[in-house]
Amino acid sequence: MTFYRQQYRAPDFLCQKIELEINLDKKSTLVRNRMYFYPNPNSTQRAEEIVLNGEDISLEALRVNGKIIKSFSLQNNELRIKSASKLFLDPFQIEILSRCHPEQNSSLKGLYVSNNLMVTQCEAEGFRKITFSIDRPDIMSVFTVKLIALKKDYPILLSNGNLIEEENLANKMHSATWHDPFPKPSYLFALVAGNLACNEKEIICSNGEKKLLQVWADKGNIKKTTFCLDTLENAIHWDESRFGLKLDLDRFMIVAVDDFNMGAMENKGLNIFNSSAIYTDQNLSLDQDYVYTERIVGHEYFHNWTGNRVSCRDWFQLTLKEGLTVFRDQEFSSDRLSKQSGKDVRRINFVNSLRSSQFSEDAGPMAHPIRPDSYEAIDNFYTSTVYSKGAEVVRMIHTILGEDKFKHGMDLYFKRHDGCAVTCDDFVGAMQDASQIDLSQFMLWYSTPGTPILSIQENFDSKKNIYSLTLIQSNKLNHVSKKPDLHIPVKIKFISPNLKKPVCQNGISFNKEYILNITKKKTKIEFQQINVKPILSINRGFSAPIIIEYEQTQKDLLEQLAYEDDTFNTWDIIQRTYCLIILNKQKFGKKFLAILKKILLREDLDAGFRSTLFNLPAESFLAQKFDEYDPEALLKNIHFYKKQLAQLFELEWLKLFDAMNDGKKYDLTPDQINRRALKNKCLDMLLWCDIDQYEHLAIKQYFSADNMNDRWFALCPLVLQSSKNFEGVLDDFYHQYKNIDMLIDKWFSVQATQLPKGPDYIDQIKKLQAHPDFNIKNPNRANSLLSSFSYINTFAFHNLNGSGYQFWAKSVLTLDKINPQGASFLAKRGLDSGHWDKLHKQCFYNHIDELFKNKNMSKNLLEIVRLIQNIKRKNSL
Ligand code: BES
Ligand code: ZN
Repeated sequence: MTFYRQQYRAPDFLCQKIELEINLDKKSTLVRNRMYFYPNPNSTQRAEEIVLNGEDISLEALRVNGKIIKSFSLQNNELRIKSASKLFLDPFQIEILSRCHPEQNSSLKGLYVSNNLMVTQCEAEGFRKITFSIDRPDIMSVFTVKLIALKKDYPILLSNGNLIEEENLANKMHSATWHDPFPKPSYLFALVAGNLACNEKEIICSNGEKKLLQVWADKGNIKKTTFCLDTLENAIHWDESRFGLKLDLDRFMIVAVDDFNMGAMENKGLNIFNSSAIYTDQNLSLDQDYVYTERIVGHEYFHNWTGNRVSCRDWFQLTLKEGLTVFRDQEFSSDRLSKQSGKDVRRINFVNSLRSSQFSEDAGPMAHPIRPDSYEAIDNFYTSTVYSKGAEVVRMIHTILGEDKFKHGMDLYFKRHDGCAVTCDDFVGAMQDASQIDLSQFMLWYSTPGTPILSIQENFDSKKNIYSLTLIQSNKLNHVSKKPDLHIPVKIKFISPNLKKPVCQNGISFNKEYILNITKKKTKIEFQQINVKPILSINRGFSAPIIIEYEQTQKDLLEQLAYEDDTFNTWDIIQRTYCLIILNKQKFGKKFLAILKKILLREDLDAGFRSTLFNLPAESFLAQKFDEYDPEALLKNIHFYKKQLAQLFELEWLKLFDAMNDGKKYDLTPDQINRRALKNKCLDMLLWCDIDQYEHLAIKQYFSADNMNDRWFALCPLVLQSSKNFEGVLDDFYHQYKNIDMLIDKWFSVQATQLPKGPDYIDQIKKLQAHPDFNIKNPNRANSLLSSFSYINTFAFHNLNGSGYQFWAKSVLTLDKINPQGASFLAKRGLDSGHWDKLHKQCFYNHIDELFKNKNMSKNLLEIVRLIQNIKRKNSL
């Protein structure tokens, strides 16, 4: 069934409060649910019937206003109750007794078991797997929840809000009752029960109020949650100081869970995290893991306002909470860094991943606006478009309005909509009204799929001394019928280093950054009396998520590089130069190499920045330049240039590898992190340069490192790049860390992405799959093998004997029986197939028949498989 955004109808009933009594038992949990409904005053029709959602649960008893009811039907996960004698015209109460079976539930939605815990995951539509309810986000209710369980097995019982009562009961049972004073949609409900340890602290907010912060985890891991707890405190202070948003509960809890599909979930007052996202310590974490933990702890906390206090009217509005909250977590992470160079590198990394993953999504069969128009399974729309492009759209509003007006917009948004479930129009409306800036054209970003292209034409007439710039916007997506002109805020600077007299025309001064608000298809700016052509620095800081089409040769790019003063653009020019070289199979130009070398050795530049400059463009980014491409050939080509770069700067890598190894004690200051990044870049390059000559450096670092970051980045190049066997290192890693799940995940993942050794590539993967530690039911472990292999191991996945494709299809179907959400994520790999060359395409479709023939897949998977089938049809295969 397809759902359409335009078909939204206000609910017939609202629910003022929900009282749950949950008898927790992993075999069979009994849920008593009392809901207090009333007719929705804003609904247009008087309903004769109320429809409740329920999935994989059995109904035991049903009462309306205390009376047992027989006139109901239960079909297709819908419980329909007919109104007897105008029962539903006034407030009424429905009480339902039902059972669910946590231990049998492998879907990681609803109530399920993870090790010795019982936990819930309700977003987007998981509440219906716990009890019957109107499971949609525009119905917000006050929840009171009584949890009952065997005290020995489940000494800790947590739910949303405040703990109001605890009792010891007969038969060694006990109970805890929680009350959440803030009305919330069902998807924000959560409970956790089990034997957990707590890491807690009390903090004082700016108004002097005391708050209790708690991180819950199993006893063996509780020491690894201190960074998380500190980060939570930082996030709370940040939201107060940057947006004036306060923590509204007396206590705020985070729980670590080992089996979790996503990174984390923002349930009101009780955030639940994939344990891998919050356990950190020196012997466990990479430097980048701390960045992720900071970001995700912030993200879920920030949802408390952007998502929870103000929620989404329907799931089409998902970007309202996710786009905005990603923007907020990015700002938080950035504000935590004190140096501008550090912030710039963060921005570069984010944009780099946006351009590889979101841009390709936006050019493929899943292309959708940040606010989609239709879906079959909402789980499939937690996409990089909704999230990352959504965040860029919010960032553009911030750019257009400026910080102060943006803040006023946020204030107005909360003033108008606190406690409500609203739409993206409401958000932009608040921004517009608070700033008095017309955002009506800007709103089109919410309904237009595809990445806009801005082509640039420069013209300099040295006789007439006229310089002109023409910008033309377009959108390449051919299945998009409406291609409206968007409002694109482009940060721009005309650089003219030796200006005799100041230029200020069209309201633009040379040598000053300026926001150009493009609103038409064609924008032309002309400057008179210009003696020297200025250097154009455009879309500085990646101010808009667009593709700049700018015909430039290596020579042009280098000239621009010499004058460019925006860090993002400096990185981008170098990326564009790499692209030109790789795609046209050119040589690295002498001048380009000279500049690269100079930058590499410049000690005044951020070491983290220097190291990112030497990452060649990703496969998925380069692939976008072709209609069809040979994935194996493209990667071989990238490897060819990487090896060259490695060899060309051999001496520099060596020199810097030593220089960055300053022997200082491990710490997490940005300076140390940057030095480690550059050091490990050098090590990687040295091994690419000549593995025989330099393997000893990696082996030595692996065995002598005092932290996981350095150990891991010594192991990776050994295992990943060479055709040699470094089983010894892998075995050592396994034996040292076999009890640490997160590290064994890494151990699987690095082997699943390893260069194939020998002709039977897939046997390596199958051997891993048969390893006793592999467990497809655990999403982290499943991903560490299946996603790593399918998404990263190009040569093994695309092998023209078809074994990779076949293995992928089989894995998708196996996983679908267990975890449909996980399966459809894995299945999305097939959405790129239309983009591969004929040989690979054909081979792919010859080996995945099983997928098309299957009649029993989940609706999540079916939606994706249909898209893959469409590609096949379109290509007449
Ligand atoms: N609300 C989501 C979690 C979620 C996603 C629930 C999909 C159900 C289905 C949460 O706020 C989120 O966005 N988490 C991200 C992390 C974040 C840093 C972008 C995640 O889990 O990847
Ligand atoms: Zn989120």
